[in-house]
Amino acid sequence: MPQWSASGIVPDDDFAGAPLLRREFELEPGHGPVARAVLFATAHGVFEAFVNGVPVSTDVLSPGWSSYQWRLRYCEWDVTQLLTPTSVLGLALGNGWYRGRLTWLGARALYGSELGAFAQLEITFADGHRQLVVTDRSWSAEPSAVLTNDLYDGQTIDARRACEDWHRPGFESAEWTTVHETEFDTALLTPYVGPPVRRIMELPVVRSWTSPAGKTLVDFGQNLVGWLRIQVTGGRGDQIVVRHAEVLEHDELGIRPLRTAAATDRFILSGGQDVFEPTLTFHGFRYAEIDGWPGEFDPTGVTAVVVSSELRRIGEFSCSDDLLNQLHANAVWATRGNFLDVPTDCPQRDERLGWTGDIAAYAPSAAYLFDVEGFLRDWLLDLTAEQRAADGLVAFVIPDALKLAGGSGNFPPTETTAIWSDAAVWVPWALWQAYGDLGVLSDQFDSMAAHVRRVESLLSPTGLWDTGFQFGDWLDPTAPPDDPVAAKADNGVVATACLYRSASLVAEAARLLGRDEQDHFDRLARRTRQAFHDHYVSADGSITSDAVTCYALAIAFGLLDDPVRQLAGDRLATLVAEGGHHIQTGFAGTPFVTDALTMTGHLGTAYRLLRQTECPSWLYPVTMGATTIWERWDSMLPDGTINPGQMTSFNHYALGAVIDWMHRTIGGLAPREPGYSRVLIAPQPGGGVTWATASLESRHGRLAVSWVEQDGVVTATLDIPAGVEAVVRLPGRDDLIIGAGHHELCSAG
Ligand code: BGC
Repeated sequence: MPQWSASGIVPDDDFAGAPLLRREFELEPGHGPVARAVLFATAHGVFEAFVNGVPVSTDVLSPGWSSYQWRLRYCEWDVTQLLTPTSVLGLALGNGWYRGRLTWLGARALYGSELGAFAQLEITFADGHRQLVVTDRSWSAEPSAVLTNDLYDGQTIDARRACEDWHRPGFESAEWTTVHETEFDTALLTPYVGPPVRRIMELPVVRSWTSPAGKTLVDFGQNLVGWLRIQVTGGRGDQIVVRHAEVLEHDELGIRPLRTAAATDRFILSGGQDVFEPTLTFHGFRYAEIDGWPGEFDPTGVTAVVVSSELRRIGEFSCSDDLLNQLHANAVWATRGNFLDVPTDCPQRDERLGWTGDIAAYAPSAAYLFDVEGFLRDWLLDLTAEQRAADGLVAFVIPDALKLAGGSGNFPPTETTAIWSDAAVWVPWALWQAYGDLGVLSDQFDSMAAHVRRVESLLSPTGLWDTGFQFGDWLDPTAPPDDPVAAKADNGVVATACLYRSASLVAEAARLLGRDEQDHFDRLARRTRQAFHDHYVSADGSITSDAVTCYALAIAFGLLDDPVRQLAGDRLATLVAEGGHHIQTGFAGTPFVTDALTMTGHLGTAYRLLRQTECPSWLYPVTMGATTIWERWDSMLPDGTINPGQMTSFNHYALGAVIDWMHRTIGGLAPREPGYSRVLIAPQPGGGVTWATASLESRHGRLAVSWVEQDGVVTATLDIPAGVEAVVRLPGRDDLIIGAGHHELCSAG
């Protein structure tokens, strides 16, 4: 971290929330060429930085969204090649999360009312001399071509106002104003732990047409997150209006799910050739309505720019069932779309918050698809900071925008809730399993322990966690559209099971770290297990409320021993079959139901549940043309209308958590030791799937499994990297231990 000499600056005129800040300077002479120049910068708001008109990086929406009261990340960019003897350092600001709209409660400016910037350019010359250029009162501010900008509502750009010259040395403008210094607490400044947000892909229009209402609509063939880049030539002052939506309804844009997010960009043409890119907003969309195009609409002038945290893809999966492959692809896209600096619930409506329960359910899946270690460790630092200030409470959303917005709206006041607050334990645990760095557990241990201790303080005298508000098995498919919390699974069963899992994981983390708290959490886990049995489990294996989710959690979390465990597994399989192999779980049960079936000998039932295509099921959305995971099992109803619930996103990853089971059970690739230093290769063919492949760029190198079943014989081809040992379990054969190399093995035929 540099020694900070900069001051925070705020333009005297706010210029509609998109000011440009500018400082011209001379390189100090007599010291030879510049050896290295590094720009450190951050903002209250979001910003882009330029040296002599050249963007210093491809990052967008910097410095992203963190819990700004405790952590404000700064960017660090090498700008050595961009400097000239007289140079201009420019910063373009926008409202972002800091001052834009946040939450569905109509709040804005949750972190402050003023946009500001903080930058320090450190130039080192060949002779070792150092020159600093910092934000201070010597800077000037001016308006940009951006007239409005908001993450939810969109952006207006007036190309008539665009002025390239503001980057040039010697440029003067009557519109300039001065800036004043503001308090920027340098103690909050911290480097990024996770990756920056960038443009990661571009997609062309695959279809354009005129809707019944006479609107020009375009389809990108993929529900995505980002914005449109538009190249157009038209009359000066002409205006193009772009609205975005994830789905069509009645052949027009289906914008009701966006609720109050306007998701509308406006582009005012200069009269010459224009290129518009609204980089101070983002939208979740597959379709766009483009109004006001001058002359005949030209779809080649429209490109969808996909924006996400830059995550390295590390895990792949495919199999003989194309519907399952599409389900998997949908999860990949849901991850891209919702890993935009913060792991969000959804990317399109007036929400886009770091809902803790969603990532608690999905972290193992995400950690296989992409390298999300830095991304989620960064977010966990916010979780820890928020939790520390809230007496161990892990809030519904991190960063806790709800607290700042003055409440939790339609939900009861924030208190520790199962699954959601368990993110404090389950997310670090998923990272430890996926990447094998004990550092995540040691860094997070106090947060993990504080969460479980807080739960402990909420227990009934029985030792059950059966009072207080719970989201529980949120979005159980039988819950009415306007009451997503009305699940079949008893909240006490769900919450107490989650406490058992969290207490056990914290005890295990304490053991791994050699901490004396191990005893405490071991005892708590044992007591919780006993209470769970005493109150919820019968000798015949039935569990209170007799709901699929209750059995799934009890089995998958290890709350039961045989013979009760087997009886419970049999009851689970019966319930799934009685339900016609339709899904019967919400956020709580969905990640675990296929595992619980598999663990108790009901692999065939797990496959039938997974391969069901009727509503509700994992594949129903796929048959409806989904290209991302939906929030609800029936976000779109079979008749093509949008679910009447006011909370209906088409890009929500939580219910996609079954891909983790697909990787391990169909693909057959699972860590046997955290980080895949030892790996379990145990494909379990079934359900008519005749081949599958799974591969992973693990911390130890590339692991790959591919198997094919023919005439009852499974032939598997494996690639194991140096230093990794694999336990191979093929149908009908004893475990085999193999080392590095390329192997071909057969099951017993
Ligand atoms: C979000 C969910 C979240 C939930 C709380 C919704 O509005 O979109 O994904 O977890 O609220 O249960």
